[in-house]
Amino acid sequence: MWKDKRPILFGGDYNPDQWDDAVIEEDMRLFEQAGVNLLVLPVFSWAKLEPEEGRYEFAWLDHILNKIWEHGIHVFLATPTSAQPAWLSKKYDDVLPVDIAGRKRTHGMRVFFCVNSVHYRERARALAEAMAERYRDFPGLAGWHVANEYGTYCYCENCQRKFRDWLRRRYGTVEELNSRWHTSFWGRTVYDFDEVMVPDERNDDYRFAPAVQLDYMRFVTDSTIECYENEAEVLKAATPHLPVFTNISGFIKKLNQFEMVPHMDYAGWDNYPAPTDEPAFPAFKHGIMRAARDGAPFLVAEQSPNQQNWQPYNKLKRPGEIRRIAYQGLAHGADSSLFFQMRQSVAGQEKFHGAFIAHCGANSRIFREACALGQELHKLGDAFTGSRIHARTAIVFDWENWWALELTSGPTQDMDYLKQVFRYYRAFYAQNIPVDIVKTSTDLSGYDLVLTPLLYMIKPGFAEKLRTFVEKGGTAAATYMSGRADENDRCIFGAYPGPLRDVFGVWVEETDALYPEESVELVMMGTESGFPEKRYEGRFLCDLFHTDTAEVAAVYGKSFADGKEQDCFYTGMPAFSVNAFGEGRAYYIGCEPDDRFLARFIARICREKGITPLFPVEGEIELTCRENENGRFVFAISHGKETGKVHLDGDGACPGKRYFDLLREKEVSGTYVIAGGDVAVLKEL
Ligand code: GLA
Ligand code: ZN
Repeated sequence: MWKDKRPILFGGDYNPDQWDDAVIEEDMRLFEQAGVNLLVLPVFSWAKLEPEEGRYEFAWLDHILNKIWEHGIHVFLATPTSAQPAWLSKKYDDVLPVDIAGRKRTHGMRVFFCVNSVHYRERARALAEAMAERYRDFPGLAGWHVANEYGTYCYCENCQRKFRDWLRRRYGTVEELNSRWHTSFWGRTVYDFDEVMVPDERNDDYRFAPAVQLDYMRFVTDSTIECYENEAEVLKAATPHLPVFTNISGFIKKLNQFEMVPHMDYAGWDNYPAPTDEPAFPAFKHGIMRAARDGAPFLVAEQSPNQQNWQPYNKLKRPGEIRRIAYQGLAHGADSSLFFQMRQSVAGQEKFHGAFIAHCGANSRIFREACALGQELHKLGDAFTGSRIHARTAIVFDWENWWALELTSGPTQDMDYLKQVFRYYRAFYAQNIPVDIVKTSTDLSGYDLVLTPLLYMIKPGFAEKLRTFVEKGGTAAATYMSGRADENDRCIFGAYPGPLRDVFGVWVEETDALYPEESVELVMMGTESGFPEKRYEGRFLCDLFHTDTAEVAAVYGKSFADGKEQDCFYTGMPAFSVNAFGEGRAYYIGCEPDDRFLARFIARICREKGITPLFPVEGEIELTCRENENGRFVFAISHGKETGKVHLDGDGACPGKRYFDLLREKEVSGTYVIAGGDVAVLKEL
């Protein structure tokens, strides 16, 4: 096992139970050639490890693990509990889930069990115990990977019972439940917890009641945490010195990862950007994952070395693309670059999914790119693992707010919290200003600038925290759809943004939804510096708000539909304002402004706080900086075709001037020229 610090983990999911010895031998040779230092297995082998209840067959796994270790490769041992064997589904009625339509599902799918099933949990724990017992001293063991991409929503009778117990614990009395769920609306009063139903499709009232849905999502998250802990506890007890985690699907919405991940030693997530995603989008998701453990390094647990099979159009990765994707993860705080999968399978649903070794064998462009990446990562070793990113700006992202905003009926069908928050993230990203995604529970005192886009749900304590932050000199910015509801989705009377009204110095009277083809002008009053153009464009939703103490910085101007002017009764009303509060400032943005406005706005509020980009650049270059006991590491990734420049000697947030280029092994300073599509890791000297 690695004695001190771990190098960047490089390798990925390996399913050797599909292969004979000759293939495994060949794989070992190729993995060594590629510089692989970690394999994750056996993710889906429960059926093979426990062919009948209580009878374990570990010999085949021993054999493979020994072979792997003979080649000096470490493993994350996976409890294969995301795909239960047929005998388990058949023998115990509580194992298979009941779906939202109320249908009891049949066996045959992975991640397809009720997380509250007593028998599933019993057998999963027993298997985890048997594995821990057998492999706790295996020298190549580097950590445990529990199950795979949790995310099943079940609506069975057992879940219903447990949901009622969960509510009893949360609310104590039915009176409290009635008040929190505001059941007097539509006469849904509950007289006994036993009358609460799961919000499946047989029950439209519950299915569309946001308060019920919200609690069900919280309940499923808690149940999944219990299900994870059921195994993790056993593994942790056997090997307290080793990390335990599960990999998180890139479609992260349905489980609250900010609740789940703190139970793990790593946030490990599966990064599968769509070919059409702009590079800022995976960067944003890395930021969310980094936030889950308050800035600690995370893992990229899966990414594809080439195409997917499940996207509508499965594009090949372009030459150099895997390298950029891998470095982007590292640049944003990952300590690994792990892939799904090492060898393409012969058959099955994913037979056309990319792999290090594809059906054509290792004489391939992709394998050569994997080898080149492996060699580079080997060279980087453990220099920056464990390092963190330091940002003075933060964007608040709240999982339950995500659920609540999108569960709400109105004001628009196009609500997409992730996408909306991303626009604010991208404005920082485009200017290479480090920004942290933070939770509502994060201590804000270390930041100078905090944005809370669409923070509709204000949880207890948050308003006070933001108020103190601004009072003490911080700059805050909020948008339309802010401060509307409490954690049970009960709206706040006394005008939005509710408890933040005094901080922003505004109150919202109404909100207009725009059709996708509609826009409204934002006309600057000329009071705010940094907005050279007088007119910008707003879309999506328009808050009609009034100022108490805030100064109006822009008003709504003309309204257009498909570029044609139309009547607008709120022309001249405030659209954007700034409030001096305590020693700080609080901005309110009444509608969704265009990118031009956002770029100006972010630059303006950063400048005011003395926050600058890491370095001045020319060209499409993404910059980040990680820091550990070895010093500062600057990552530069070119996403353009043209040659770009990083002015290391320019004025920026990164004070260093002389660097060592770790990949090219030479000292650099002044203007660093980076070829189109290339990457660099520079260590400050
Ligand atoms: C997910 C799963 C993997 C595999 C990949 C394919 O992330 O965890 O087992 O199915 O997708 O992209
Ligand atoms: Zn269930």
